[in-house]
Amino acid sequence: MMLWRRLSRAARRVPSSLILIIFVSIILEVLIHLSRYKVPRPATELDAPFFTSCQEPDTTAERENAIFVMLARNQERHKAKKTIKSIEEHFNKWFNYPIMFLNDEPWDPRFIADLNKTAGGKGIFEVIPKEQWTFPDWVDQESAKKNIKAQGAADTPHAGLEGYHHMCRFYSGKFYQLDILKDYKWYWRLEPDVDFTCAITYDPFVQMAKHKKVYGYTIALWEVGTSCPSLFRTTADWKELRGVPSSTLWNAMIEASWMPFPFRRFLSWVSHRDAYGDAWSLCHYWSNFEIADMDFFRSQAYQDYFNYLDKKGGFYNERWGDAAVHSLAVAMLADPQQVHHFEDIGYRHAKFYQCPANAPGGQLPSSPSLGKKAWSPEIAGGIGCRCECNGKKTHNYQSYCLDRLKEPNTPKKRWFS
Ligand SMILES: *[C@@H]1O[C@H](CO)[C@@H](O)[C@H](O)[C@H]1NC(C)=O
Repeated sequence: MMLWRRLSRAARRVPSSLILIIFVSIILEVLIHLSRYKVPRPATELDAPFFTSCQEPDTTAERENAIFVMLARNQERHKAKKTIKSIEEHFNKWFNYPIMFLNDEPWDPRFIADLNKTAGGKGIFEVIPKEQWTFPDWVDQESAKKNIKAQGAADTPHAGLEGYHHMCRFYSGKFYQLDILKDYKWYWRLEPDVDFTCAITYDPFVQMAKHKKVYGYTIALWEVGTSCPSLFRTTADWKELRGVPSSTLWNAMIEASWMPFPFRRFLSWVSHRDAYGDAWSLCHYWSNFEIADMDFFRSQAYQDYFNYLDKKGGFYNERWGDAAVHSLAVAMLADPQQVHHFEDIGYRHAKFYQCPANAPGGQLPSSPSLGKKAWSPEIAGGIGCRCECNGKKTHNYQSYCLDRLKEPNTPKKRWFS
């Protein structure tokens, strides 16, 4: 009792100004910390659409060294056909890029005959070498398989399927090293069961090259957190290990912690946080649509990052997805202005879509190449070409993530004017 009274008397003697100073310093420290992650907005748009209306397709212009790639299984023939029909109709009948189909099993001759025909004879059918589609040596298969089963039981999307893990690892790193792709620089990734809903009347590969882009996307959204609890920590550790500086795009991926120093560091034990306690927002580009420069992913820096991830075993013990891996790598290793949002391309996969409104007066109604098929209404501010977006789907798929990841390139939206 004596001690208690003495202590409280001492506490009362601590000047309130000292308490105030401590409190203000804590707040200041947090504010300074948060400000280090602030993404400055540019005064003008730094990643404008390549075109904002229909162009007369220039079928004689020089092409880039590029190819479409679709990973598919024999039983996905109808879904694959739907995609190929859509991309041929909306783009490739004018530009004639080859389409490579990849399978981890031998092709069914019916798939080859059918899809080659749909692709206008431009189909190439390859089987992925076994060693690119399996567990690496250092992963204990027994325990990995047990983990995969547990992930399936926990309802992490697709994570109960061994093949899905191989696929994510393949698309994350092995894909870019394939012998059959080594003569190509650019790829456009396709997936079975997607729709293209606007005419693409220019060559995106040529525009990417011209504007020095390395990565193009349509949709950005949140990753499923349970699929990759330790991916971000591993990535941030690699970034620090290799001394990779933080770009504005990297900072746009981060949700800086509000916890004051030194308590912030304790948060590093929580998933999706770096060694200092700051979090990844889980925002990423949806990689089932990608138009990208394979030389970016073949670079020593990217392959070093992939190998570092691969050694950690997270492609199996967790379900690290290629979308998240590609996105974090792009944020670390590409200049923010080398990333392009194809907001003029109408695209749907699963329940997510992007479908721009049509550009008023920009639809080339009498173009013989574009034909006479009806298109959705033209709406002020629209940038699409002949989009078929059935009225309701006239807007781009908007999300928190799309807005965040565009911050380094896009001026702040003004709600007045
Ligand atoms: C696809 O069709 C084209 C044109 O008919 C043909 O030349 C080519 O050999 C076919 N490819 C395969 C893999 O069947």
